Amino acid sequence: QTTALAAGTIGKDGYRHFMEKELHEHPLVIGQTLQRMVDPASRRVVLPDLPFDLATVPRAVITACGSAFYAGMVGRYWLESIAQLPVDIDVASEMRYRNPPLTAGSLGLLISQSGETADTLAALRSLRQKAVHILSVLNVEHSTMARESDVVLGTVAGPEISVASTKAFTAQLTVLACLSIATARARGTLDALAEEELVAALLDLPSRAADVFAQGDAIRRMAAIVAEARDVLYLGRGSMFPVAMEGALKLKEISYIHAEAYAAGEMKHGPISLIDRTVPIVASAPYTPLFDKTLSNLQEAKARGGRLLVFTDTKGAERVSAIAEDMVVLPHVHEFAAPILQTIPVQMLAYEVAVLKGTDVDQPRNLAKSVTVE
Ligand code: G6P
Repeated sequence: QTTALAAGTIGKDGYRHFMEKELHEHPLVIGQTLQRMVDPASRRVVLPDLPFDLATVPRAVITACGSAFYAGMVGRYWLESIAQLPVDIDVASEMRYRNPPLTAGSLGLLISQSGETADTLAALRSLRQKAVHILSVLNVEHSTMARESDVVLGTVAGPEISVASTKAFTAQLTVLACLSIATARARGTLDALAEEELVAALLDLPSRAADVFAQGDAIRRMAAIVAEARDVLYLGRGSMFPVAMEGALKLKEISYIHAEAYAAGEMKHGPISLIDRTVPIVASAPYTPLFDKTLSNLQEAKARGGRLLVFTDTKGAERVSAIAEDMVVLPHVHEFAAPILQTIPVQMLAYEVAVLKGTDVDQPRNLAKSVTVE
């Protein structure tokens, strides 16, 4: 990546920042990644040959840093719910020292854009010592982690220049969705019809993702409110909780506004005491089976004077509009695909806030694209 940049081969193509350009690459990148992993004719996931059997792995251990960790958290929801595979997950800087008890033959699932992050690499090596199969989801395929893995599932995101990850994250989610489907099929928890339904939901994503950009005005309206805040609370339930975490991380990284993500149902155990007009609440609430639960948490926040800025979809819009100060309405997609789609506007919100604040969006202070020290 650095070489390509130095050679001037990668430009911003008319966008204000690499981050904006990379945000607009979400539809393309999701599509390219799916092309590698899905047979569109049969609507089945096709993985490369694996040197182990997904049907018999007793457990998966997921580890990563930063945004890649949040992708892993969504992966945990999928692997548990559709493949019924027990999953343990932790950030790599903790996992590398945790010494968790693991049955040989378990699956170590490492996620990294760069394939060079020091903590993730060290966690890989510590899992390897426990005779765990190492499967890595990587964007840079000629990386140290790639060389040390049993198998690599590549994200086809292309070079990501902006320090804050965008398209690599949705590509990671796309790979994890496909891996979850393949695992579920191998373990007999997903029949062919159900697989077709989930694959169809994924194949629908590139065009639905392109629709998100039509929401630019609503996102910029929200950004004007968020940019004035000192603290922002992000909320989500189920697979939307890691999406909220990704949104909060992105806001912190590039706009330097303090943001915290909470599982919406946990809000009443602490952060509810922070809520007033000065702390905007950004919620991810598409119409999924957890929509009603999320909405009732948002109502609790509103009753305490909270200003609600909500990402929802066409099926949730009417009820959200009754309580939200502003909202972004995305196309309604299958619950399985929703975290991938809903990630795009939360990243766009952070971007627009950073632009309003005038920060160095692509090179935020104190951060590095690839953290190769512990
Ligand atoms: C840095 C970047 C993040 C990234 C994290 C993990 O902190 O700023 O955007 O998510 O590293 O990087 P990796 O290359 O392992 O995905």
